[in-house]
Amino acid sequence: MVEEELVKLREGKVEFLAPAGYNVSGPGKREGGLFYNRQMEMNRDVCVSILNALGRRVRVLDAMAATGIRSARIAVESGVECEIDAADTSQSAVELMDRNFGSLGLENVRIHRRGAIAAMAEGSFDYIDIDPFGTPVRFIPQALMSVRSGGIIGVTATDTAMLCGSARGSGRRYLCESRRWPFMHELGIRCLIGYMVRIGASFDRAVTPVLSVFADHYFRVYVKVENGVGRAERMLGRMGYASYDAGTRERYVGQTPVSGGAGPLWTGELHSSSLLSSMKCMDWFGSRRRLEKMLGVWRDEAEAPPLFYNMDELSRLFGYSLPSLSRTIELIRGSFTACRTHFDPKGFKTDAGVGELRSLLAPASPGKGISGAA
Ligand SMILES: C[S@@+](CC[C@H](N)C(=O)[O-])C[C@H]1O[C@@H](n2cnc3c(N)ncnc32)[C@H](O)[C@@H]1O
Repeated sequence: MVEEELVKLREGKVEFLAPAGYNVSGPGKREGGLFYNRQMEMNRDVCVSILNALGRRVRVLDAMAATGIRSARIAVESGVECEIDAADTSQSAVELMDRNFGSLGLENVRIHRRGAIAAMAEGSFDYIDIDPFGTPVRFIPQALMSVRSGGIIGVTATDTAMLCGSARGSGRRYLCESRRWPFMHELGIRCLIGYMVRIGASFDRAVTPVLSVFADHYFRVYVKVENGVGRAERMLGRMGYASYDAGTRERYVGQTPVSGGAGPLWTGELHSSSLLSSMKCMDWFGSRRRLEKMLGVWRDEAEAPPLFYNMDELSRLFGYSLPSLSRTIELIRGSFTACRTHFDPKGFKTDAGVGELRSLLAPASPGKGISGAA
């Protein structure tokens, strides 16, 4: 019997029971008990939107299902025919799922009291969701084996400090040295993707990121997994190293390791433009306003070069204030590519170098003016 006090909540189109002391922010951790985090609603909205965009029948494994809210929302809201397995190691989670799915009348969801690795090993799935407390590393190899060719894995990582190089150990855990540089959140997600690409390639499976998200306290990546040695090798070819000069603020990516650099990490695109063009922000999503904005930024940055710049970092270096972000981007676009980035509200991506930015953004440049200075 679930012994914790429960409350009735609504997320998306689903009414469900959650623990009364549910989290409203941060990663949280309630090992063995019941867990629900309201702040992860956008994470689940995105998941529903991606499954909807796939537009085909899917077999889903929600490998760490907790209250079952993600499975329930996929079943009710994704608009695709699905067969869902929802697993969790916690007995109270399993009992709560039983109540939640029962009251929704869901017949296409099976509940398992089982570890994620065992649950993944028992089938092959079109979509696997890995949403652990902390690092997902130990679940990734089995997820890469259990997803069907052409299928998708969604992975959350909340060990952001390690992935971003603020805490030691990314080399050990992710086989990638990360660094606490101004664009560390992009480095962190590239480390996580790179890890998946390399582990996938070791089983002759090609891993391609289709959406890469940094939000609140977590990273979330969706990768497509396909069979084939050639494809896997092509993905490995997109691995590389990043370097950063703290004096000049120049950043580089390349194929060769650099002393004091970061990597090996994923240097290719972070999102799939075609997936993003099919993704919809449904009217009923709780995160609708935020997600609509995010979709726009992700679409812009899908084709952008790696390693964003931060406006404050450049202002300090140049000794003058940069114009507003939108004006900065407009000025750069006269000569180079430039767009916003979801990693940083004061960040932008461009193929211009620091020297070019210094002259393009200087307030004294004729015809530019300084209106809208930040
Ligand atoms: C962060 S919560 C998942 C939240 C859920 N996916 C959602 O969207 O609300 C992590 C869950 O994983 C469960 N868990 C922890 N270790 C597990 C394991 N090895 N296999 C399966 N579930 C596990 C916990 O009991 C907890 O319910």
